[in-house]
Amino acid sequence: MAISILLLNGPNLNMLGTREPQIYGSQTLEDVETLCKNHAEEKGASLSVFQSNHEGDLVDAIQKARGHYDAIVFNPGAYTHTSIAIRDAITAAQMAIYEVHLSNVHAREEFRHHSYVSGVAKAVIAGLGVHGYLAAIDEICDDA
Ligand code: DQA
Repeated sequence: MAISILLLNGPNLNMLGTREPQIYGSQTLEDVETLCKNHAEEKGASLSVFQSNHEGDLVDAIQKARGHYDAIVFNPGAYTHTSIAIRDAITAAQMAIYEVHLSNVHAREEFRHHSYVSGVAKAVIAGLGVHGYLAAIDEICDDA
């Protein structure tokens, strides 16, 4: 059966394109989602997308993903650094999560150096821009 992937983006990622483009690039979230969908399709996988600015909505999405998707490519945005609820949802769902950050969070402010997600993620990619999402998709497809 074809691999199915959920691309999940957290708070403020709906502002991509206009939000600090020197850090996050000039592509919009829609551009990124289309790129990821096309990339997954080229690999014979299917990809659904969801973005929310709300922690509980992201928890709901992770809970619901179980049984529906093989893996989640997840940029939790600022919740990376604050959310035990999101970490617990990942553990409870027992899903392969690929944590992606557009920027290299380790080269930025100290409060971005800690991630609640990394310890329960299958892999962490930071600083490759949009390519990070594509690398995660490649890895999921090649790992299957
Ligand atoms: C981010 C990094 C986070 O620190 C920040 O809060 C974001 C985006 C990234 O993609 O580089 O919203 O996850």
